[in-house]
Formats: sequence, structure tokens, C-alpha cells
Amino acid sequence: MSFSNLFNLPAGPYFLSHSVGCLSKQSELSLAENFLTPWKLSGGDAWPDWLQTVDLFCASLAKLFNAKAADFCPQTNLSSAFTKWLMALPMDNFQVGKRKILIHEDAFPSMGYVGQAMQQFGFELVFIPASESALNIQTWQRYIQKDIDCVLATHVHSNTGQVAPIEAIGRLCNQQSCYLAVDVAQSAGILPIDLQCWDVDALFGSCVKWLCGGPGAGFLWVNPNTVEQLKPIDVGWFSHSDPFEMEIKRFAYAPDAKRFWGGTPNIAPYALALGGLQTLLEIGQNTVFAHNRKLAEYFLTNLDESAVQPIDLANVGGTLCIELSAPRIAAISQRLKQQNCYFDTRGNVMRLSFHVYNSLQQVDLLIAAFKHNSGD
Ligand SMILES: Cc1ncc(COP(=O)(O)O)c(C=O)c1O
Repeated sequence: MSFSNLFNLPAGPYFLSHSVGCLSKQSELSLAENFLTPWKLSGGDAWPDWLQTVDLFCASLAKLFNAKAADFCPQTNLSSAFTKWLMALPMDNFQVGKRKILIHEDAFPSMGYVGQAMQQFGFELVFIPASESALNIQTWQRYIQKDIDCVLATHVHSNTGQVAPIEAIGRLCNQQSCYLAVDVAQSAGILPIDLQCWDVDALFGSCVKWLCGGPGAGFLWVNPNTVEQLKPIDVGWFSHSDPFEMEIKRFAYAPDAKRFWGGTPNIAPYALALGGLQTLLEIGQNTVFAHNRKLAEYFLTNLDESAVQPIDLANVGGTLCIELSAPRIAAISQRLKQQNCYFDTRGNVMRLSFHVYNSLQQVDLLIAAFKHNSGD
């Protein structure tokens, strides 16, 4: 069954869902119905409808990740959510020598920039070198020591496609009493994620990639067991347990993740993203994942063994990150551009993503381009 009619698709084959997912038709409707129309019809009285839209957004995330809606808080993007969460951690740990933030060098640079900026508040930043595989639990075991305050693990790494063993990292963090936060930017909407099976403190994500919800609809999930330890600094009336109390001398944190919300919230990005989320939930997470795997397997099995380095699909996310020599990457890129394909490269790596709107015929184009340029 083809789901491509549910999306607005650019003219050429689109393999860029790791960057921006295609606009779902439901997103256009949702923006009109849940944001523009209430505003047109009732001006400032649109707030109940607008807030219900955000509730529906959080409820959809809850369904996707098998969690509770109250434990999600809208955020602009991942780095901002990471900053807010780090600044909310209890400082007691500093007194017992736990002040290190641990990040793998293959994490998305923006998250490393946050770690660097946090040094001005007394945190120390430790990088796991890129030469030590993030796939490997022994790597994490070597670095997760008593002096680590929190670990940022990237579920799927954007330039290698590698999947970190989050469940096992969670056990290590538990043993060393440190916080674990997970970046799901590249996995949300493509890899099944069940928060009941992960022992993590926070999750940072956005809807711009596989969730086809556009930029600006980020989110933070906070573990309900640890949320009360967290005291965000960047607050506003929507972080209050009763936003309409309006008593300037009395601030009380919301009991759940909404304490991270802040001042008057954005609505439009969440109205848009809700459409993408609803479309993908209707298709079903397992169907999206199975389709991705079917196309990836088809691609890999139809190439000569020597045409690309071996890729084990058990260890990668939705994107095939294919290392190629400089002449090959140039030649294959040129051919794919002639065929109006959407894809990107990072250094000597070509990134190709298969979503529900991609077909086997489109993968045939890729196979032909790789076979046509099979040697150096
Ligand atoms: C793994 C990962 N984390 C985070 C981001 C984006 O972070 P932010 O939302 O702060 O721009 C990306 C974007 O490509 C990513 O691939």
C-alpha cells in the first residue's frame, strides 16, 4: 500500500527525511483548523482551542512513545530543551564532585555547544572520542564513572546512522547515580521507542525530520519519577502550577514537565506538527519502520558486495550513511542530481533516508547510480 498521497512531495525522489520530512496534507489542515480558524473567528478567545491543540500534540507524542501526555513539554528545539534541563538539575551533586557532562563526539554539534556554554555555570564537559564506537556498551562503561553528573546519549547519530544502546546505558547511569538524557531527533517517528522500557531521565526531540511536522515543534519528555528534583530557571506563567493565579510574589512549579514551558507559548508549529503526528500514528509506527527496512534491505542486497562498506541494519537508524571515496561521492552525487533526487552528503558520507513516501522504483534509481559508478 502506498502512503505517498498523504504527503506533499517535491518533484524528485526524496531521500532527505533525516533533514526535513515532507509536509503531510493533514498538517496543512491542522494549521488551518487548530490555529488560524480559531484566531480568525474569535481573536484572543482562541486560547482554549489553541491550548487544546498543544494538549493533542502532547497526547500524540505520548501515544508514539508509550508514555503520559503530562510528561511532555513543548520546546522550540533540542538544544534549547537541553540547556533548560541542564540548568534545572540539582546542584547538590557538585558538592560531591559530580559535575561532568558526558557527550560522544558523534553527537549533533549543537548539543556539544550547549555543553560548552554550560561550563560557565561550573559544569565540566567530557567528550567520548569519535574513535570509540557509540554502538558499543563497553565504550560507555569506560566513561560513565562516579564523577559524571549527566550523560547525553544520541539514540541515532546523524552522520554515522549508528544506534546507541540506550537501555544498557540507562543501567550504567543507574549504577553510577547519574542522570541520562537522550536525543531522539533522528529516531523519533522511524525507530520504535517505548519509554516504559528505557530507564532515562529526559528525552529531547523535534518533529521536523521523520515526524513530518516542520521546524519549531520540539519537545522535552521528563521522567515523572525525577521531575520534582528539577527546578528550571527559564520559567514563565505557563511553568506555574496554576498559570492564572497571577500572584507576582508566589511562583509554584507545575508538578509535571510543563514546569519547563515558560512564557506565552507558540501554537502554530504544534498545530502543524500535530497533522504529521496524526498521519504517522494512523499509518502506524511499525508500518513506517518495516517499510524503511524493506527499502534499505532491497538497496543493500542489490548492490555488489564491494560497492559499499557493509552496513548491519540491526545497528542503524532510518538513514543509510554510506562512506565513499571522494571521486565516487562526486560522481554518484552528480548522477542523482541529474535525476532530481533529494539527498545530502557530509564529508565522505552520503546520507539516504527511506520514508513511507519512498518506493522500490526510487531505490532502483539509487542502485543504478551506485552500479554505474562502482569503482574508483
Ligand atoms: C541527532 C540530532 N540532534 C539534534 C539536532 C538538532 O538540534 P536542534 O533542534 O537544537 O537544532 C539534529 C539535527 O539534525 C540531529 O540530527
